[in-house]
Amino acid sequence: MRLSVIGCGYLGAVHAAAMASIGHDVVGIDVDRRKVDALSRGEAPFFEPDLQELLTAGVESGRLKFTTDMAEAAGAKVHFIGVGTPQQKDGYAADLTYVNAAVDGLLPYLSPGDVVAGKSTVPVGTAADLAPRIEATGATLVWNPEFLREGYAVKDTIDPDRLVVGVDSGDDGHAAADILREVYHPAVAKETPFIVTDRATAELVKVAANAFLATKISFINAMAEIAEVTGADVTQLADAIGHDVRIGRRFLGAGIGFGGGCLPKDIRAFSARAEELGRGESVAFLREVDAINLRRRDRAVDLVINAFGGSVFKKNVTLLGAAFKPYSDDIRDSPALDVAIRLHGLGAWVTITDPAAIENAQRLHPQLNYVADRDEALREADAIVLVTEWDEYRRDLTPEHAATLTNGRVVIDGRNGWDAAAWRAAGWTYYGMGRP
Ligand code: UDX
Repeated sequence: MRLSVIGCGYLGAVHAAAMASIGHDVVGIDVDRRKVDALSRGEAPFFEPDLQELLTAGVESGRLKFTTDMAEAAGAKVHFIGVGTPQQKDGYAADLTYVNAAVDGLLPYLSPGDVVAGKSTVPVGTAADLAPRIEATGATLVWNPEFLREGYAVKDTIDPDRLVVGVDSGDDGHAAADILREVYHPAVAKETPFIVTDRATAELVKVAANAFLATKISFINAMAEIAEVTGADVTQLADAIGHDVRIGRRFLGAGIGFGGGCLPKDIRAFSARAEELGRGESVAFLREVDAINLRRRDRAVDLVINAFGGSVFKKNVTLLGAAFKPYSDDIRDSPALDVAIRLHGLGAWVTITDPAAIENAQRLHPQLNYVADRDEALREADAIVLVTEWDEYRRDLTPEHAATLTNGRVVIDGRNGWDAAAWRAAGWTYYGMGRP
């Protein structure tokens, strides 16, 4: 099938490449000429496992191309909208400028029978606002939210847990859902749950899922705060409650909390939208979720300060990690970098290492010291802080080896990734998050 994908950022570039890999003819469209040029050469503009291979194969096969020219969308059967919906500069609400611009740009090239499939995460009610403009051309608007995780984006796109399509109740809506079944044929063949619902529900499914995940993380981080004043161990608590299948162990990792381009902005946009709808109180807990999350960054900084008896001034502190999570070079709202900046502000000599995100971090915070090689970064450190649990750090760095490199023997495990007993046995003072 011929498809267009408007917006070639994280979501759109992966979607375009993934759709080409399952046999569609795809044109990716973006206003950023440099991004389009890189993608047209088959180069991934960000780090994402498997994306590079998919892009190269797609471009070489001729089934995948990229352009800045919206006119190239003409003739596609389905047009995916995958542009960003960032947090507004002066508030919590989502900025829909890019969604509106994408739709307006696309309108002249739509034909009757086309399907416009919104994938961006939007405030509930957005599809209802956009529909009249789109449907005046004879095209049909559906909302088809995307649940991909960075680091697993290709897998999540081709082989998702579920597909959700929000349609208008008329015949056109159901015909559009059938077209999307054809688009996602490999997942449909595997009997992946394919949920056809109304557009408002589809919009809400996405924000509800992210709100739930953020709440789960903040719940366990709240337990970590209680553990810290009682001598309990939140990691054992998480294991114990996680055995209850109704709760489940995943997303109960206490630490310095969540960041990235989705969870923080999505819970804020959800609160803002609920308030507009006169239902702010229904999701008032999300403010608390956000506040707990941000307090964990303070806690990590306090642990470093306390480890040095009250001041980090002129202490060499090495942070392992800059990305908001492993297997990503994304530093948007990264808790790791936030901790780094605060320690730097308190006069520490901060060194940061990361397998993928150094270039991005350096661009945003050039005042910090970046060292690509892990062991070089650890040399002469007075303290180590684990802030992003890459395998190179969590799994591969042993306390014995670290001790051959550093000056001090202080470790702050901001992701509860290490075995406290093993570090202590090797002579380190170990501090975890919510652990005695
Ligand atoms: C998230 C959702 O998982 C995904 O479904 C949605 O489409 C986009 O938002 P992503 O932002 O890629 O995906 O990251 P995710 O893996 O969910 O992690 C988010 C943050 O939570 C990271 O900073 C991670 O370190 C943190 N986290 C995760 C925890 O602090 N504890 C955990 O137990 C799990």
